[in-house]
Amino acid sequence: MKSSLKIFGFVIVVLAFYSYVGNTVPQKITYPPESADLSADMTPDELAIAGADIVAGKGTCLGCHTVGSRDSGLRFPDLGGIATKASTRIAGMSALEYLAHSLYEPNEFIVDGFLAGMPAINRPPIGLTDDEIKAVIAYLQSLGGTPSVTLATDVGYVTEVSAIAPAPSGGATLGAGLDGPGVFTTYLCNTCHSIDSPDPLVGPSLFDVGSRLSKAEIYEAVMEPDATLAEGFPGGVMLTTLNALGFYQKVSPEELRALVNYLADQQGN
Ligand code: HEC
Ligand code: HEC
Repeated sequence: MKSSLKIFGFVIVVLAFYSYVGNTVPQKITYPPESADLSADMTPDELAIAGADIVAGKGTCLGCHTVGSRDSGLRFPDLGGIATKASTRIAGMSALEYLAHSLYEPNEFIVDGFLAGMPAINRPPIGLTDDEIKAVIAYLQSLGGTPSVTLATDVGYVTEVSAIAPAPSGGATLGAGLDGPGVFTTYLCNTCHSIDSPDPLVGPSLFDVGSRLSKAEIYEAVMEPDATLAEGFPGGVMLTTLNALGFYQKVSPEELRALVNYLADQQGN
């Protein structure tokens, strides 16, 4: 009896803790940012398997892309059979060259019928290493083809260390001090939303969001993206991506306020 009371008490404390955490932080799902276990002696097939994990995890790719789905919403190219499609995309470019190009310079070439908005995956906050990108390429080669890449393969790109901005601040460091525009680019809002022009990317343009939404509505749109969907745009995408980036855990209340004020100032002129 005594011990069941103790357990009961423990359960209450745990539940109270989780509902407290649940109220302060809307979403707790995130992917560990550690690097994948890759070694030089992996065969292309082994590398492709590791690449599949990166695509589903640290790479955040599946927040936007489907693999082999017919109803992929038409906003993001489906990656099913990409190994075959890759050789037909840009005249004179081999499939391997195209895959590397589409990962390292995603906005240099926009797939016909799609909008720009793929983030730089070798920069923070996604920050895949060059080896991890090779694993991703091996995986993409396996979608409709046979992987040939190993860690020794030269895919034509090397990430410049100087190009890597510091990682976003941890939420615990209060006042780590990103301003509104800083939050907007650090958490990749800018890869899905334009702010200087009315043209939509993956999400609606925010150039006039301050004239369309109140601060409270902007706050809700950021904290609970799927509660109210902007008409004609897909749900799930923003939430999945921000979760995968750890946005909801890392952003501080001050940064959030700066972000909302910055967006409220966007009046479309
Ligand atoms: C925020 C959404 C988003 C994320 C995250 C994302 N992509 Fe993309 N991706 C896009 C969009 C939009 C396009 C089409 C525009 C373009 O060509 O750049 C695209 C294009 C591509 C293409 C070219 C497809 C084709 O049919 O030619 C490949 C390959 C690709 N992405 C792979 C990836 C991989 C691998 C990851 C993860 C490491 C990833 N993407 C993460 C949005 C995203
Ligand atoms: C992977 C793409 C993606 C990312 C990253 C993203 N969003 Fe979104 N966002 C969307 C989509 C799609 C919608 C439309 C569906 C909806 O309303 O949730 C949207 C909707 C919104 C809206 C409502 C706009 C309106 O006109 O009603 C706001 C505000 C917004 N996002 C702000 C942000 C901010 C701030 C960030 C960064 C912290 C961000 N988004 C990151 C895709 C994205």
